[in-house]
Amino acid sequence: MKTRRTCVVLTGAGISAESGLRTFRGADGLWEGHRLEEVATPQAWARDPEAVLRFYNWRRAEVRAAAPNAAHRALAALEARYEVRVITQNIDDLHERAGSTHVLHLHGEILKARSTRDPERVIPLGGRDIHPGDHCPLGSQLRPHVVWFGEAVPAMAEAAELAAEADLFMVIGTSLVVYPAAALVDCAPPHAAKYWINPDIPPHARLPGFQCLAAPAGAALPELVRKLLEE
Ligand code: OAD
Repeated sequence: MKTRRTCVVLTGAGISAESGLRTFRGADGLWEGHRLEEVATPQAWARDPEAVLRFYNWRRAEVRAAAPNAAHRALAALEARYEVRVITQNIDDLHERAGSTHVLHLHGEILKARSTRDPERVIPLGGRDIHPGDHCPLGSQLRPHVVWFGEAVPAMAEAAELAAEADLFMVIGTSLVVYPAAALVDCAPPHAAKYWINPDIPPHARLPGFQCLAAPAGAALPELVRKLLEE
């Protein structure tokens, strides 16, 4: 029998916005005038790998310079009372740096590289970037350990299983437009208490059964976590 309740949290770029990392679909979501979809694809990699590496090297530098914010820290604090399982679409490491101990990265991790020959060979980058000519032990070019548009999301099955275990389910800082990640909201069981935190929830997008907190995560989440810890 479970002794502690399970809180499953689906996060997106919005939770890192207050750490200074830009969202994808916000007004500032461009890179050198390109939309993300133009650089984060297998086609872009085949056409111009150097540009793709440059894009991720730039984003990696931004991640390294960023620090977790009050929302990341609140989720880590919730572990005092709940089994917290974070499922993040983010490729940054801010949940881990805030102290969350169970983080599943649906779309990969920018601080890791992987072999272009064997996708199972994942290599932590430490402080390094990836440059053309950087090879895996098999001799093939290293690529960022991230999921590109059009690629499979290998962690999805595990994420759906986690979501189905939720007593409490939170959706924080995501536009819920990218699939299959967005489908996870349908995997939470009907009995779970559900919250959606986003300062910009369009009225037509309200999720049935979810309590909507229309505020930045850095303000709304510490308050919600405080209440949950006091219950
Ligand atoms: P989006 O940029 O699509 O959405 C970010 C959401 O965060 C928006 O709904 C904002 O309203 C909200 N937001 C902004 N500031 C916030 C704050 N302070 N607190 C809470 N919410 C805030 O980012 P994602 O939904 O994460 O995929 O995008 C999903 C996927 O699309 C990404 O993982 C990435 C991207 O293409 C891949 O790279 C495969």
